[in-house]
Amino acid sequence: MPKTVFVSNVLPLEARDLIPRDIAVDYNATDTPLPRGELIARLRGKDGLICQIITTVDDEVLAEAPTLKVVANVAVGFNNIDVAAARRRGVVVTHTPDVLTETTADFAWALLMGAARRLVEADRFARSDHWTRWQWDLLWGADVHGKTLGIVGFGRIGRAVARRAAGFDMRVLYHDAVRADPALERELRATPTDLAALLGESDFVTLHVNLTPDTQHLINERTLRGMKRSAILVNASRGPVVDEAALARALREGWIAAAGLDVFEEEPRIHPDLLPLANVVLAPHIASASGETRLAMATLAVKNCLAVLAGQPPLTPVP
Ligand code: GLV
Repeated sequence: MPKTVFVSNVLPLEARDLIPRDIAVDYNATDTPLPRGELIARLRGKDGLICQIITTVDDEVLAEAPTLKVVANVAVGFNNIDVAAARRRGVVVTHTPDVLTETTADFAWALLMGAARRLVEADRFARSDHWTRWQWDLLWGADVHGKTLGIVGFGRIGRAVARRAAGFDMRVLYHDAVRADPALERELRATPTDLAALLGESDFVTLHVNLTPDTQHLINERTLRGMKRSAILVNASRGPVVDEAALARALREGWIAAAGLDVFEEEPRIHPDLLPLANVVLAPHIASASGETRLAMATLAVKNCLAVLAGQPPLTPVP
Protein backbone atom coordinates (compact mmCIF):
# COMPACT_ATOMS: atom_id res chain seq x y z
CA MET A 1 0.00 0.00 0.00
CA PRO A 2 1.45 3.43 -0.90
CA LYS A 3 1.93 5.64 2.15
CA THR A 4 -0.03 8.87 2.60
CA VAL A 5 0.79 12.00 4.56
CA PHE A 6 -1.42 14.89 5.56
CA VAL A 7 0.32 18.25 5.76
CA SER A 8 -2.21 20.24 7.76
CA ASN A 9 -0.85 23.71 7.03
CA VAL A 10 1.44 25.66 4.76
CA LEU A 11 4.95 24.21 4.45
CA PRO A 12 7.79 25.50 2.23
CA LEU A 13 8.15 23.80 -1.15
CA GLU A 14 11.82 22.94 -0.44
CA ALA A 15 10.67 20.86 2.52
CA ARG A 16 7.70 19.27 0.74
CA ASP A 17 10.01 18.36 -2.16
CA LEU A 18 11.86 15.98 0.17
CA ILE A 19 8.82 13.72 0.21
CA PRO A 20 9.36 10.95 -2.37
CA ARG A 21 6.86 10.69 -5.21
CA ASP A 22 5.60 7.29 -4.05
CA ILE A 23 4.17 8.90 -0.91
CA ALA A 24 0.83 10.59 -1.55
CA VAL A 25 0.57 14.05 0.02
CA ASP A 26 -2.68 15.72 0.99
CA TYR A 27 -1.62 19.35 1.39
CA ASN A 28 -3.70 22.04 3.08
CA ALA A 29 -1.86 25.10 1.79
CA THR A 30 -3.30 27.57 4.28
CA ASP A 31 -2.08 28.89 7.60
CA THR A 32 -5.47 28.82 9.30
CA PRO A 33 -6.39 26.10 11.79
CA LEU A 34 -8.57 23.40 10.27
CA PRO A 35 -11.97 22.88 11.86
CA ARG A 36 -11.78 19.74 13.97
CA GLY A 37 -14.21 17.84 11.75
CA GLU A 38 -12.14 18.55 8.66
CA LEU A 39 -8.92 17.56 10.41
CA ILE A 40 -10.48 14.23 11.37
CA ALA A 41 -11.88 13.70 7.88
CA ARG A 42 -8.57 14.43 6.16
CA LEU A 43 -6.60 12.23 8.58
CA ARG A 44 -8.70 9.22 7.60
CA GLY A 45 -6.42 6.55 6.09
CA LYS A 46 -3.27 8.69 6.52
CA ASP A 47 0.03 7.25 7.77
CA GLY A 48 1.64 10.54 8.73
CA LEU A 49 0.66 14.01 9.87
CA ILE A 50 2.94 17.04 9.57
CA CYS A 51 1.37 19.82 11.62
CA GLN A 52 1.94 23.11 13.39
CA ILE A 53 1.00 24.26 16.88
CA ILE A 54 -2.36 25.51 15.61
CA THR A 55 -3.44 21.88 15.11
CA THR A 56 -4.77 20.16 18.22
CA VAL A 57 -4.10 16.44 18.15
CA ASP A 58 -5.89 14.99 21.15
CA ASP A 59 -7.03 11.49 22.02
CA GLU A 60 -10.31 11.87 20.15
CA VAL A 61 -8.54 12.94 16.95
CA LEU A 62 -6.07 10.07 17.33
CA ALA A 63 -8.93 7.60 17.91
CA GLU A 64 -10.40 8.63 14.55
CA ALA A 65 -7.05 8.09 12.80
CA PRO A 66 -6.16 4.44 13.48
CA THR A 67 -3.77 4.22 10.51
CA LEU A 68 -1.61 7.11 11.76
CA LYS A 69 1.99 6.22 12.64
CA VAL A 70 3.60 9.59 13.17
CA VAL A 71 2.71 13.15 14.13
CA ALA A 72 5.57 15.47 13.16
CA ASN A 73 5.10 18.85 14.81
CA VAL A 74 6.79 21.81 13.12
CA ALA A 75 7.73 23.36 16.49
CA VAL A 76 9.85 22.57 19.49
CA GLY A 77 6.86 22.87 21.85
CA PHE A 78 4.30 20.08 21.60
CA ASN A 79 1.53 21.00 24.03
CA ASN A 80 -0.90 20.89 21.07
CA ILE A 81 -0.47 17.10 21.01
CA ASP A 82 -1.61 14.57 23.60
CA VAL A 83 1.69 12.71 23.66
CA ALA A 84 0.58 10.14 26.25
CA ALA A 85 -2.47 9.24 24.14
CA ALA A 86 -0.29 9.00 21.03
CA ARG A 87 2.12 6.66 22.81
CA ARG A 88 -0.75 4.47 23.98
CA ARG A 89 -1.89 4.19 20.39
CA GLY A 90 1.61 3.49 19.08
CA VAL A 91 1.89 6.84 17.27
CA VAL A 92 5.34 8.45 17.29
CA VAL A 93 5.42 12.19 18.06
CA THR A 94 8.35 14.32 16.89
CA HIS A 95 9.27 18.00 17.24
CA THR A 96 11.93 20.40 15.96
CA PRO A 97 14.44 21.24 18.67
CA ASP A 98 17.97 22.62 18.04
CA VAL A 99 17.24 24.22 14.66
CA LEU A 100 15.32 27.09 16.30
CA THR A 101 17.38 27.51 19.47
CA GLU A 102 19.54 30.44 18.42
CA THR A 103 16.77 32.31 16.60
CA THR A 104 14.47 31.98 19.60
CA ALA A 105 17.20 33.11 21.98
CA ASP A 106 17.85 36.12 19.73
CA PHE A 107 14.20 37.05 19.98
CA ALA A 108 14.05 36.65 23.76
CA TRP A 109 16.86 39.20 23.82
CA ALA A 110 14.96 41.45 21.42
CA LEU A 111 12.02 41.43 23.86
CA LEU A 112 14.34 42.02 26.80
CA MET A 113 16.11 44.94 25.14
CA GLY A 114 12.89 46.32 23.69
CA ALA A 115 11.21 46.34 27.09
CA ALA A 116 14.28 47.65 28.93
CA ARG A 117 14.95 50.50 26.51
CA ARG A 118 11.31 51.20 25.70
CA LEU A 119 11.88 50.67 22.00
CA VAL A 120 8.23 50.37 20.97
CA GLU A 121 7.24 53.50 22.89
CA ALA A 122 10.24 55.28 21.35
CA ASP A 123 9.24 54.24 17.84
CA ARG A 124 5.68 55.51 18.36
CA PHE A 125 6.96 58.75 19.83
CA ALA A 126 9.48 59.37 17.05
CA ARG A 127 6.72 58.98 14.43
CA SER A 128 4.36 61.31 16.28
CA ASP A 129 4.11 65.10 16.35
CA HIS A 130 5.22 65.06 19.97
CA TRP A 131 8.93 64.89 19.13
CA THR A 132 9.85 68.53 18.90
CA ARG A 133 13.36 68.66 20.44
CA TRP A 134 16.10 66.65 22.13
CA GLN A 135 14.95 66.13 25.68
CA TRP A 136 17.07 65.33 28.73
CA ASP A 137 14.55 63.05 30.40
CA LEU A 138 12.88 61.53 27.39
CA LEU A 139 11.99 57.82 27.61
CA TRP A 140 14.49 56.77 30.23
CA GLY A 141 14.80 53.02 30.40
CA ALA A 142 16.73 50.44 32.35
CA ASP A 143 20.37 49.48 31.82
CA VAL A 144 20.91 45.89 30.78
CA HIS A 145 24.69 45.56 31.05
CA GLY A 146 26.05 44.55 34.41
CA LYS A 147 22.63 43.47 35.74
CA THR A 148 21.35 40.10 36.94
CA LEU A 149 19.58 37.83 34.47
CA GLY A 150 17.37 35.04 35.84
CA ILE A 151 16.66 32.21 33.40
CA VAL A 152 13.78 29.90 34.27
CA GLY A 153 14.18 26.70 32.26
CA PHE A 154 17.78 25.93 31.40
CA GLY A 155 17.35 23.73 28.35
CA ARG A 156 18.72 24.50 24.92
CA ILE A 157 17.06 27.90 24.55
CA GLY A 158 17.69 29.00 28.14
CA ARG A 159 21.37 28.18 27.69
CA ALA A 160 21.56 30.05 24.39
CA VAL A 161 20.07 33.07 26.17
CA ALA A 162 22.70 32.71 28.90
CA ARG A 163 25.51 32.59 26.34
CA ARG A 164 24.45 35.97 24.98
CA ALA A 165 24.45 37.49 28.49
CA ALA A 166 28.25 37.28 28.62
CA GLY A 167 28.42 40.11 26.09
CA PHE A 168 26.45 42.28 28.48
CA ASP A 169 28.66 41.36 31.41
CA MET A 170 25.67 40.10 33.36
CA ARG A 171 25.40 37.89 36.39
CA VAL A 172 23.37 34.84 35.34
CA LEU A 173 21.14 32.79 37.64
CA TYR A 174 19.16 29.82 36.40
CA HIS A 175 16.41 27.61 37.72
CA ASP A 176 15.64 24.17 36.32
CA ALA A 177 14.37 20.85 37.65
CA VAL A 178 17.63 19.32 36.41
CA ARG A 179 21.00 20.79 37.36
CA ALA A 180 23.31 21.51 34.43
CA ASP A 181 26.77 20.02 34.16
CA PRO A 182 29.18 22.02 36.36
CA ALA A 183 31.51 22.54 33.38
CA LEU A 184 28.63 24.12 31.47
CA GLU A 185 27.66 26.25 34.47
CA ARG A 186 31.26 27.53 34.53
CA GLU A 187 31.33 28.13 30.78
CA LEU A 188 28.07 30.09 30.89
CA ARG A 189 28.87 31.64 34.26
CA ALA A 190 25.40 30.54 35.38
CA THR A 191 24.51 29.77 38.99
CA PRO A 192 21.73 27.30 39.88
CA THR A 193 19.26 29.10 42.11
CA ASP A 194 15.93 28.19 43.62
CA LEU A 195 12.99 29.90 42.00
CA ALA A 196 12.08 32.26 44.83
CA ALA A 197 15.67 33.52 45.16
CA LEU A 198 16.03 33.88 41.39
CA LEU A 199 12.84 35.93 41.19
CA GLY A 200 13.86 38.07 44.14
CA GLU A 201 17.36 38.84 42.86
CA SER A 202 16.97 39.16 39.10
CA ASP A 203 16.65 42.42 37.19
CA PHE A 204 15.45 40.43 34.18
CA VAL A 205 13.55 37.15 34.35
CA THR A 206 13.21 35.17 31.14
CA LEU A 207 11.07 32.03 30.80
CA HIS A 208 12.18 29.02 28.75
CA VAL A 209 10.25 26.10 30.23
CA ASN A 210 7.96 23.61 28.51
CA LEU A 211 4.29 23.98 29.32
CA THR A 212 3.37 21.17 31.74
CA PRO A 213 0.97 20.98 34.69
CA ASP A 214 3.96 22.00 36.85
CA THR A 215 4.75 25.12 34.86
CA GLN A 216 1.18 26.31 34.19
CA HIS A 217 0.86 29.72 35.90
CA LEU A 218 4.36 29.39 37.33
CA ILE A 219 4.34 33.17 37.15
CA ASN A 220 1.29 34.24 39.13
CA GLU A 221 0.32 36.87 41.68
CA ARG A 222 2.50 35.33 44.40
CA THR A 223 5.61 34.90 42.23
CA LEU A 224 5.18 38.33 40.62
CA ARG A 225 5.02 39.90 44.07
CA GLY A 226 8.32 38.16 44.82
CA MET A 227 10.10 40.01 42.00
CA LYS A 228 11.87 43.37 42.19
CA ARG A 229 9.74 46.40 41.46
CA SER A 230 12.32 47.29 38.81
CA ALA A 231 12.24 43.80 37.25
CA ILE A 232 11.43 43.05 33.62
CA LEU A 233 9.77 39.73 32.67
CA VAL A 234 10.25 38.07 29.28
CA ASN A 235 8.14 35.15 28.03
CA ALA A 236 9.02 33.39 24.78
CA SER A 237 8.00 29.93 26.00
CA ARG A 238 4.24 29.27 26.23
CA GLY A 239 1.52 31.71 27.26
CA PRO A 240 -0.08 29.68 30.06
CA VAL A 241 3.21 29.69 31.99
CA VAL A 242 2.15 33.22 33.00
CA ASP A 243 -1.15 34.18 34.61
CA GLU A 244 -1.89 37.05 32.25
CA ALA A 245 -4.51 38.71 34.46
CA ALA A 246 -2.05 38.79 37.37
CA LEU A 247 0.71 40.09 35.09
CA ALA A 248 -1.53 42.89 33.82
CA ARG A 249 -2.18 43.94 37.43
CA ALA A 250 1.52 43.72 38.26
CA LEU A 251 2.39 45.97 35.33
CA ARG A 252 -0.43 48.43 36.01
CA GLU A 253 0.20 48.67 39.74
CA GLY A 254 4.00 48.64 39.53
CA TRP A 255 4.81 45.35 41.26
CA ILE A 256 7.27 44.91 38.36
CA ALA A 257 8.50 47.47 35.82
CA ALA A 258 7.85 45.97 32.40
CA ALA A 259 7.46 42.85 30.31
CA GLY A 260 8.11 41.49 26.83
CA LEU A 261 5.74 38.77 25.66
CA ASP A 262 5.74 36.62 22.53
CA VAL A 263 3.17 34.11 23.76
CA PHE A 264 -0.27 34.34 25.35
CA GLU A 265 -2.69 32.16 27.24
CA GLU A 266 -5.34 32.02 24.52
CA GLU A 267 -3.64 32.97 21.28
CA PRO A 268 -4.42 34.99 19.27
CA ARG A 269 -6.38 36.68 22.07
CA ILE A 270 -4.33 38.91 24.35
CA HIS A 271 -5.74 39.66 27.79
CA PRO A 272 -7.56 42.99 27.33
CA ASP A 273 -5.94 44.46 30.45
CA LEU A 274 -2.50 44.14 28.81
CA LEU A 275 -3.42 46.00 25.65
CA PRO A 276 -3.53 49.58 27.01
CA LEU A 277 -0.27 49.25 28.95
CA ALA A 278 2.81 51.04 27.59
CA ASN A 279 5.21 49.01 29.73
CA VAL A 280 4.68 45.76 27.87
CA VAL A 281 6.08 44.83 24.48
CA LEU A 282 3.77 42.42 22.65
CA ALA A 283 4.67 40.13 19.75
CA PRO A 284 2.46 37.63 17.89
CA HIS A 285 4.35 34.40 18.69
CA ILE A 286 7.24 34.97 16.27
CA ALA A 287 10.34 34.01 18.26
CA SER A 288 11.44 31.37 15.73
CA ALA A 289 10.28 33.38 12.73
CA SER A 290 13.28 33.85 10.48
CA GLY A 291 13.29 32.48 6.94
CA GLU A 292 16.27 30.19 7.57
CA THR A 293 14.91 28.80 10.80
CA ARG A 294 11.39 28.22 9.57
CA LEU A 295 12.80 26.30 6.59
CA ALA A 296 15.04 24.25 8.91
CA MET A 297 12.04 23.45 11.13
CA ALA A 298 9.93 22.38 8.15
CA THR A 299 12.75 20.25 6.76
CA LEU A 300 13.35 18.52 10.09
CA ALA A 301 9.64 17.78 10.50
CA VAL A 302 9.48 16.21 7.04
CA LYS A 303 12.60 14.12 7.74
CA ASN A 304 11.09 12.93 11.04
CA CYS A 305 7.90 11.90 9.30
CA LEU A 306 9.74 10.09 6.50
CA ALA A 307 12.02 8.26 8.94
CA VAL A 308 9.07 6.81 10.86
CA LEU A 309 7.25 5.85 7.67
CA ALA A 310 10.40 4.05 6.53
CA GLY A 311 10.46 2.09 9.79
CA GLN A 312 13.46 4.00 11.15
CA PRO A 313 13.85 5.89 14.39
CA PRO A 314 12.86 9.56 14.10
CA LEU A 315 15.62 12.16 14.29
CA THR A 316 14.01 14.17 17.07
CA PRO A 317 11.23 12.39 18.93
CA VAL A 318 9.61 14.31 21.78
CA PRO A 319 11.24 13.38 25.09
C1 GLV B 1 7.11 27.67 18.79
O1 GLV B 1 6.47 28.18 19.62
C2 GLV B 1 7.73 26.39 18.95
O2 GLV B 1 7.43 25.69 19.92
O3 GLV B 1 8.52 26.01 18.08
